Amino acid sequence: MSAAEEAGGLVFRLAEQQDFQQVLNICSSDAFEGLDYMAATFHRWLQEPERLVFIALIEDRVVGLESALLVDGGHTAVFQGLRVAPDLRGRGVAGALQTHLTDHIRQHYPQVSAVRLSRGDRPPKQTLDQYRLVAKEAILSQCCEAADLALFVAELRSRLPWRSGSGSSPPVTLSQRRAEALILSDHVVSNLLPGGTIINDWEPLRPLEANLEVLRRRGLTWIVDRESEPAAVSLSTAPYAVPYRHDALHFNINIFGRRLASVCSVFLAQLEALLPRLRGYLIFYTYVDPAVWAGLRQLCHNSSNVSLFKDYWEELVLEKDL
Ligand SMILES: CC(C)(COP(=O)(O)OP(=O)(O)OC[C@H]1O[C@@H](n2cnc3c(N)ncnc32)[C@H](O)[C@@H]1OP(=O)(O)O)[C@@H](O)C(=O)NCCC(=O)NCCS
Repeated sequence: MSAAEEAGGLVFRLAEQQDFQQVLNICSSDAFEGLDYMAATFHRWLQEPERLVFIALIEDRVVGLESALLVDGGHTAVFQGLRVAPDLRGRGVAGALQTHLTDHIRQHYPQVSAVRLSRGDRPPKQTLDQYRLVAKEAILSQCCEAADLALFVAELRSRLPWRSGSGSSPPVTLSQRRAEALILSDHVVSNLLPGGTIINDWEPLRPLEANLEVLRRRGLTWIVDRESEPAAVSLSTAPYAVPYRHDALHFNINIFGRRLASVCSVFLAQLEALLPRLRGYLIFYTYVDPAVWAGLRQLCHNSSNVSLFKDYWEELVLEKDL
């Protein structure tokens, strides 16, 4: 029996500002290991162009949320933010919410032909069979006090060749304009992007001019190992507060490329760029090609109290036709 049948009616509507507290109530503190981003993004999502945020209610109580961002020039809906109240999980609420959102998109946005989403769990085979696997990224998740990150950065600096005068050049921070030109270039799209997809945090976008506006909104820092034909392109999100600890900040670094030395060098450069903005307790995720995860992990063995937050895990980018 579905939750709707059991509880006498599940209704859906677009979320509003005043739903904020009720939405936070369905975000269990253990979700995403204490790194739930909903408090940081809810109001921004409501304002974001081309984003639909739907909630499910039972008798005026918010019991679920799902959102879709229309990207790729309006041809793809990226589903994000699925949440169901802990006491109602496993009873079909998420499925019903996704069906409602899909029907709404079909009806109001007939140009949308595909749904894309990222999953960090291990979906069963029958779920995977419904999708095309677009890309798979390995996640190195680490944590430390902000004060220890400076020591960690100094430790890594001493190990990387471009710091010790070997002749190789230092990574370069790109202007937004330069980053946009580069991310759409044939070289980056064909050789570096996983499955030909720009993944910013958990947000997968095709490398299309139409998606640049979405990336601009995210306030990303772009760093490459070299400006011409880079072997590694990286982007990082601005740090944001998460419920893990009263002073916890979370940030994400996505690195595209399979040459380990280049991946390590942009990883370090991203940490250096972020350092001045960091305080409190840090949990940071670095998303890389699975082939370089072990090498990056090896580089990150340290005596600066930076530890592994979670062992090896993966982000899957999945897509299906609407
Ligand atoms: C994941 C969650 C939303 C599932 O809610 P639920 O009402 O128990 O789910 P249902 O009973 O409707 O059935 C599961 C369906 O939800 C959807 N779902 C479950 N996990 C999902 C995920 N990580 N990403 C996208 N969809 C997911 C799928 O449609 C799934 O069907 P499938 O297993 O065939 O793929 C709920 O457990 C929750 O809120 N967890 C904490 C937050 C979270 O992990 N969100 C998912 C990532 S954004």
